[in-house]
Amino acid sequence: HGDVVVLGIETSCDDTAAAVVRSNGEILSQVVSSQADLLAKYGGVAPKMAEEAHSQVIDQVVQEALDKAYMTEKDLTAVAVTIGPGLSLCLRVGVQKARRIAGGFNLPIVGIHHMEAHALVARLIEKDLQFPFMALLISGASIFTSLPPLSRAFCYCRVYDHREEVSFIILIMEVNKKASGSGGHNLLILARDLGQYIQLGTTIDDAIGEAYDKTAKWLGLDMRRSGGPAIEKLAMEGNAESVKFSIPMKQHKDCNFSYAGLKTQVRLAIESKKIDAKIPISSASNEDRLSRADIAASFQRIAVLHLEEKCERAIQWALKMEPSIRHLVVSGGVASNQYVRAQLNMVVKKNGLQLVCPPPQLCTDNGVMVAWTGIENFRMGRYDPPPPAQDPEDFV
Ligand code: KG4
Ligand code: ZN
Repeated sequence: HGDVVVLGIETSCDDTAAAVVRSNGEILSQVVSSQADLLAKYGGVAPKMAEEAHSQVIDQVVQEALDKAYMTEKDLTAVAVTIGPGLSLCLRVGVQKARRIAGGFNLPIVGIHHMEAHALVARLIEKDLQFPFMALLISGASIFTSLPPLSRAFCYCRVYDHREEVSFIILIMEVNKKASGSGGHNLLILARDLGQYIQLGTTIDDAIGEAYDKTAKWLGLDMRRSGGPAIEKLAMEGNAESVKFSIPMKQHKDCNFSYAGLKTQVRLAIESKKIDAKIPISSASNEDRLSRADIAASFQRIAVLHLEEKCERAIQWALKMEPSIRHLVVSGGVASNQYVRAQLNMVVKKNGLQLVCPPPQLCTDNGVMVAWTGIENFRMGRYDPPPPAQDPEDFV
C-alpha cells in the first residue's frame, strides 16, 4: 500500500478524540476534548449528557486534528473509528462523523475495537514489539454495556477464551452482537497476531479504574481529571500499610480480577473513619486529609498488588504456551499511573520479560491509538468500502 495516512476518531466514553497518524508511525496531530466538568459534577459518566457533549465538539475536534496535521480530508487514506465496546449513544456520535467523512470523500472505513487499540498503540511507540506478546489492559467504566448495532462496519478483532480451544466467544467484534460488559475494560490477553487475542483473564465484576473512580468520589476528591490521578496524587501523602484491606481472589487459581469486594471494603473503611465526601479534600482539616490519604494509599497498594499477582501467574502460564513472548504491554487509563507502572515493571522483569507502557497521554483514551490500529488493519486489507455519499441518517 505504501504510505498510509489515517484519521482516527474515538468517542466511546467521555473523551472526544481525533488524531492523524502516518504508517511510518509519525503522529501528525492529536486532539482530545474531555468532559471534565460534567464528570466532576455528576461523579461519573451520564450517557445522555456525554452524548450531547460529544455532539457539540466532534466537528471541531476532527477539524482541529486535520488542521494541525496540515491536511484536508482529501489527503487521507482511510478513516478509523471506535465501534465498541463503549456507551452506545456515545459511540454513535463518532461513527456518524466517520461515516460522513468517509462517504463524502470516498474513503474506506476501519471499525476499531477499543481495547485492541489500547494494546496496539504500544507497537507505534515500540518498534521492536512483535507478536506474540502479552497485554494487560486496565481502564475504567463498568457501565459500558455493549457493542451496539452501530454501523455496517465490521471489526476484525477476535478475542478467544483460552478455555475454548477452537471456537471464539468472549468479546465480540461483530456488529449487532452483544459485547462484553465491564470485563472488556480489565483484560489480560495474549496477542497472537493482529486481530487474534486469547483472553487469559478478565474482571468478574468491576474494572480497576471503576474502583479508583469510586474511591476518589467517596473521599471527596476533585474528579475533574477523573478519579485515578486524584488518588495517585493523594496516595503519596498516605501510609499504604495503615488500613488493612484484603487481597481479592486469593483462593482462585485463575488469572481473573475482581474489584467489587475491594470497593466495598474501602466504602466501609471510609464510613468507619467518618469521612464526609461532601467536604471537599481542599477544605478538610489536616487530620482529616491524612486519614483520607491513608485510605487512598492502602487502597492503591492492594488494587495494584492484585494486578501484580495475576500478571505473574499469567506470564508463567503464557510462556508455556508461547515461549517466544518477550513483552508485556500495560495500557489503558490506569496504566498512566506511575505506581502501577513501577510495580508491574518489577513483576515483568523478574519473570524475564520487558514492560512496554505507552506514555500517559496514549494510555488514556485518545485518537492516536484508533488511527494506528486503523493503519495496522488497513495494511492487512481489513477495512470496509466507503459508505454511500448520501448516507441515510438513520443507519444506526
Ligand atoms: O482507558 P480510559 O481512558 O477509558 C476507558 O476506556 O475506560 O480509562 C479511564 C480510567 C478511569 O477510571 C480513570 O480513573 C483511570 O483510567 N485513570 C487512572 C489514572 N489516570 C486515569 N487510574 C489510576 N491512576 C491514574 N493516574
Ligand atoms: Zn479506554
